[in-house]
Amino acid sequence: MKIGIIGLGYWGPNLVRNFLAQKSVDKVVACDIKEDRIEMLRLKFPEVQFVKDYKSLLTSDFDAIVIATPVNSHHKLAKEALESGKHIWVEKPFTSSTRQADELINLASSKNLKIFVDHTFLYTGAVKKIKELIVKGELGEIIYFDSVRINLGLFQHDVNVIWDLAPHDLSIMKYVLKDKQATGVTACGISNYYELENLAQMSIHFQDNLCFAHFHVNWTSPVKIRRIIIAGKKKMLVFDDLENSEKIKIYDCGVDISSTESLHNALVQYRTGDMYSPKIEQTEALNCAAKEFINCIKENREPLTNGIDGLEIVRILEASDKSIKNNGMLVNLNNYSEDEIYKPGEVLHEYA
Ligand SMILES: NC(=O)c1ccc[n+]([C@@H]2O[C@H](COP(=O)([O-])OP(=O)(O)OC[C@H]3O[C@@H](n4cnc5c(N)ncnc54)[C@H](O)[C@@H]3O)[C@@H](O)[C@H]2O)c1
Repeated sequence: MKIGIIGLGYWGPNLVRNFLAQKSVDKVVACDIKEDRIEMLRLKFPEVQFVKDYKSLLTSDFDAIVIATPVNSHHKLAKEALESGKHIWVEKPFTSSTRQADELINLASSKNLKIFVDHTFLYTGAVKKIKELIVKGELGEIIYFDSVRINLGLFQHDVNVIWDLAPHDLSIMKYVLKDKQATGVTACGISNYYELENLAQMSIHFQDNLCFAHFHVNWTSPVKIRRIIIAGKKKMLVFDDLENSEKIKIYDCGVDISSTESLHNALVQYRTGDMYSPKIEQTEALNCAAKEFINCIKENREPLTNGIDGLEIVRILEASDKSIKNNGMLVNLNNYSEDEIYKPGEVLHEYA
């Protein structure tokens, strides 16, 4: 396979390295408009050919195009690549709007091309293990998902902190809580330095109101925290991505209530048992993701993280913008009330 990679900023070089490592990849051609990025990477990757104009990657001998540019350019580059008959890998978040995402999904489907959205965390050993534990029922019924992703982060020029950081946690939540239907979003944020929010909190509401998800993202924190708590009625789990060896800890603890009829008479008992840390696979997530992309093309099947997964995350991000603009108003994910936001009812494409 011949792969073209567009965008060699912070993330692009990781993609170059991982695609070069794939057996089925014969040639990687990498592209950036910035000469200094190319010159720096030429020394690091002598086997890679570099170009400044992405249009030279849209010729017939390329099989797939990988897009690792800022979010506001994803749709344009992805559309041109699909129109040129290429399978595409698009970095998270997939697009800047659900309308754009839907257009790309339709285009790819009409040409039998694959869209891979890089929700990298789904390919980590830790998230695979979390999914396995939840599917096995180890935690019992899940009652909340609570995530914190904060540090002194890189301010983005085109998206706020939710669009930049929350796609990671949202994609993990959607994957591990696949059977739960998110119905609404509330979000609040502050913009201390320019018009885009640098700190935000977002909540996701679910159909039965028996589960809740909360996300705290911040580019202006003095400390770096990457932690998710997933609480089940049987056991609770903490995923700390900054831990080297024990990223996941499972706590055999919880609350038992003798009667739910009257709180006054109820006997509340706390269980605090053992904690253990399961072994997790150590393979680099991007390596697994690149393999999945190549295999889905070879096997003519949808990848684990496809365009629809990308669209579902963009729908939540779009709703969070609307909620922030309206002081934390609850935005229904299935029924946006204002015209300026794309309505899922307008779908151009049948997902079923
Ligand atoms: N999956 C992950 O874990 C992860 C991590 C970091 C970033 N990302 C995503 O990767 C994307 C890029 O992020 P980044 O932090 O590397 O950004 P960046 O600004 O550091 O790099 C983007 C690069 O794209 C180049 N570029 C822009 N338009 C171009 C064009 N038309 N042709 C060629 N080159 C072009 C820029 O010159 C720049 O070098 C974003 O979507 C971001 O959200 C994903």
